[in-house]
Amino acid sequence: MSRKLAVIGMGHVGSTAAHYIVANGFADDLVLIDLNEDKVVADAIDLQDAMPNLPYHTNIVVNDYAALKDADVIISALGNIKLQDNANDDRFAELPFTSEQVPAVAKKIKESGFNGVIVAITNPVDVVTSIYQAVTGLPKNRVIGTGTLLDSARMKRVVAEQLHIDSRSVVGYNLGEHGNSQFTAWSTVRVLGHPISEVAEAKGLDLTALDKQAREGGFRVFHGKKYTSYGVATAAVRLANTVLNNALSELPVSNYREEYGVYLSYPAIVGRDGIVEQVQLNLTDEEVKKLQVSADYIKTKFAESQA
Ligand code: LAC
Repeated sequence: MSRKLAVIGMGHVGSTAAHYIVANGFADDLVLIDLNEDKVVADAIDLQDAMPNLPYHTNIVVNDYAALKDADVIISALGNIKLQDNANDDRFAELPFTSEQVPAVAKKIKESGFNGVIVAITNPVDVVTSIYQAVTGLPKNRVIGTGTLLDSARMKRVVAEQLHIDSRSVVGYNLGEHGNSQFTAWSTVRVLGHPISEVAEAKGLDLTALDKQAREGGFRVFHGKKYTSYGVATAAVRLANTVLNNALSELPVSNYREEYGVYLSYPAIVGRDGIVEQVQLNLTDEEVKKLQVSADYIKTKFAESQA
């Protein structure tokens, strides 16, 4: 069976995701969509120019919503770079753009007869994921946001830097909003074979400072290059592959949690059908409170977006 992926929105993030997919042969078919026809056609040609020197072939089609019908995963990477650059470093600043664009795109996805999994990157991602689900009418388990899969990676980076180890050797999660109300759930973090609390005490790590660095990691990148791309595109493609491979990986992604009544990041098992099982963490009382604050914040902002 052929593997068909789609990327909607060919800015810095979408084109990075597309290149990652093509360079690694992750799909047999790739649909690229963007409002800027010249740009997306040029991206497709540029990717095809890479192919003679790659070990993989990918069939690329451009700006064809009908081609989404039998796609396995659609990655939503559309965004507004002007609104991203806001004084408050708040991903909700993009909401005026996304609350208009995302329903329009979601409607076209629905019209195509698409019946796969949507992976949303578009910010504010927790609200955008809800909008995709509501407008497409896809089951909640088949609409996922990259969420704190990215922030958890940032947490792994800052912890690993302190301990001089590979970031892949850090296990654990950032939870809640992919935004300013998120937090590192240190009770989930393990490193060097121990809970991080023990390692932090032995090595004098300041976990409050590391939590802040992880949460603000995106803005550090953003201030340096005016967008972020590799981290989030890699998270999205990992999710797409997890679905394609039915890998059943436990990942902290934005998924609908009934007890919070909202999309937020919390680990779940991801496979061919999207979210196939929700995980139940054993959080501390303080973490439970922080997660509730984050959930309430997303819920309020979502209500505002619908008003
Ligand atoms: C970031 C964007 C994707 O954190 O929100 O890099």
